[in-house]
Amino acid sequence: MSEAPLIRLSGVGKNHGSIIALREVSLEVDAGEVLCVLGDNGAGKSTLIKIIAGLHRHDAGGYEVAGEPVSFGSPRDALARGIATVYQDLAVVPLMPVWRNFFLGSEKRKGLGRMDIDHMRRTTRAELGEMGIDLRDVDQPIGTLSGGERQCVAIARAVHFGARALILDEPTAALGVKQAGTVLRYIVQARERSLAVVFITHNPHHAYPVGDRFLILKRGRSIGYHPKGEITRDELTALMAGGAELEQLAHELQSTQDSDAGAAAATALTKEAERLRPAD
Ligand SMILES: Nc1ncnc2c1ncn2[C@@H]1O[C@H](COP(=O)(O)OP(=O)(O)OP(=O)(O)O)[C@@H](O)[C@H]1O
Ligand SMILES: [Mg+2]
Repeated sequence: MSEAPLIRLSGVGKNHGSIIALREVSLEVDAGEVLCVLGDNGAGKSTLIKIIAGLHRHDAGGYEVAGEPVSFGSPRDALARGIATVYQDLAVVPLMPVWRNFFLGSEKRKGLGRMDIDHMRRTTRAELGEMGIDLRDVDQPIGTLSGGERQCVAIARAVHFGARALILDEPTAALGVKQAGTVLRYIVQARERSLAVVFITHNPHHAYPVGDRFLILKRGRSIGYHPKGEITRDELTALMAGGAELEQLAHELQSTQDSDAGAAAATALTKEAERLRPAD
């Protein structure tokens, strides 16, 4: 018998008043695995994350951590079970040093309540080094780091404070190619350190290289849940972008032939839809 996965949702649903934000969503993620959650705007990604992170209670279905049913009342409850969430708009204090941000809210103290600055500097440098981040100076204000580096500091911090599962809400959305690559590398590092990672993204090109499984959401429902071996990058992209919808849009634009711009856009969309159509 294999043990229960670290995180398991079964048939989870959530309503916001009369809006169905999530319906019948199931997923599993275990230590040493990366689950990617993809979906367009309003698909329910953030709602799903907030349930896992303890910000929202699910109102249907089941949520288990290591086989135990849970219903978190706050992110603190989730954190106590080792589930740490890194939000896109990181709560950092830009003018404070990197080490200070690393220990924010969990400052190490020595006698008389004085902060053990040396310890915090050394630990920050060591933990970042462990994840392959080589900062010249942990005394520099965190605001001077790039967005990618800041995400990495947040990941290293969660690892240091004992996270078993790391939830990342669109960590690469606002980043350029190179910086996104850096963050993706740390996602892989976190997996190698046996964390369970739930990685939310719009971008199948970011998800595919690092994911072990993919959950695709659309209007609050799962439209696909596949291990990597069962789906190609193009199929993932097609599911995500809705190749059929692009084709429809192309037709609509084509019918406004009087505008050159409309025709050009239609041609481009038709091409894109063809490219996305899974080869089978
Ligand atoms: N607090 C709320 N009150 C009412 N409706 C909400 C609330 N939060 C989310 N919704 C609705 O639930 C649906 C799913 O939203 P959610 O934020 O989970 O989507 P998302 O996939 O994260 O989208 P995005 O990519 O834009 O961040 C949307 O229709 C949204 O308008
Ligand atoms: Mg969202």
